[in-house]
Amino acid sequence: MAARSILILPGDGIGPEVVGVARQVMQRAAVDSGLELKVSEGILGGVAIDSAGTSLPEDTLEAARASDAVLLGAVGGPHWDDLPMDQRPEKGLLGLRAGLGLFANLRPALSFAPLAQASSLKSELVAGLDILIVRELTGGIYFGEPRGVELINNERVGRNTYVYAEHEIERIARVAFELAGKRTGRLCSVDKANVLEVTQLWREVVTRTAQDYPDVELSHMYVDNAGMQLVRAPKQFDVLVTGNMFGDILSDVAAMLTGSLGMLPSASLGATGQGLFEPVHGSAPDIAGQDKANPLATILSVAMMFRYSLECGAAADRIEAAVDQVLARGLRTSDILTRGAATGMREVGTSEIGDAVLRALETGDER
Ligand code: IPM
Ligand code: MG
Repeated sequence: MAARSILILPGDGIGPEVVGVARQVMQRAAVDSGLELKVSEGILGGVAIDSAGTSLPEDTLEAARASDAVLLGAVGGPHWDDLPMDQRPEKGLLGLRAGLGLFANLRPALSFAPLAQASSLKSELVAGLDILIVRELTGGIYFGEPRGVELINNERVGRNTYVYAEHEIERIARVAFELAGKRTGRLCSVDKANVLEVTQLWREVVTRTAQDYPDVELSHMYVDNAGMQLVRAPKQFDVLVTGNMFGDILSDVAAMLTGSLGMLPSASLGATGQGLFEPVHGSAPDIAGQDKANPLATILSVAMMFRYSLECGAAADRIEAAVDQVLARGLRTSDILTRGAATGMREVGTSEIGDAVLRALETGDER
């Protein structure tokens, strides 16, 4: 098979550390799968602002377009917080997602058995949890026009527009129905149809699309209730589908169920097999450069890359098993170290837990 091209964008804060570790895991898994990878690096976010004057340089977007998959760390940090909205590091990430047409963001919240104690919920509520949030990623209030702050009657008025066209709703709904069909066959669509017309349309289109998926059981939930249900009884869910902003919020909530935001990977996909893979967490500037960050979300994002863009589900399974094994051995970065930890747990840094995953991958031991 021809070499597959991967663009790596380490970004800001802890991005370079977690990506550095995940890159080694990616290369190891590729060798084991007989896949040849052509890996290049680019700049995005704050580092790009500092060195190229823009958060998404044209070269980066071109390189991303030409690649089979992009692995991203995180963007942003206090250093760039005072910039106007359209010049911030986050704008680069949003531009990259939109520029590649990656409208479907998959955020699985999976509870690793050894981490059930690390959740902020009682362990019986989260043990065995396996939910998938499908977040629309290139529309909604994140991208709607008009937007901005203007002076009206001598005071500033801020505005964003929550907008979805039918085709945008239908294509994300289809992704969610397909995925639900391959899992337990339950899909919950999250909206605010009691207040917002745009999500009334969302509900209508999702319901109409359901006719093509008779094997999937569709339900609807208002977003406030969904937030509550996620912390009350998360195991009632299988696949959730929702718009850009609700998905952003609910995926952080779901992440905490699994023990830490440092555990949640994501895949952003479009109409082709190309994908962008990134941890759900941010750049965590407070711990950047200290070898403290949890690289597992990025490593698990690499697993998703093998599954969704490199058509190599076996490699994805092996990476996930290696992560599970390292956790079972008691290795923990500080974010997943249970308070009053049972003996047998050991706090380690980014590189040590990364090395342990690599070794587990090399030996391929089953627990
Ligand atoms: C996420 C992040 C981003 C988002 C930010 C950094 C633009 O919070 O991926 O969840 O809001 O989409
Ligand atoms: Mg977010």
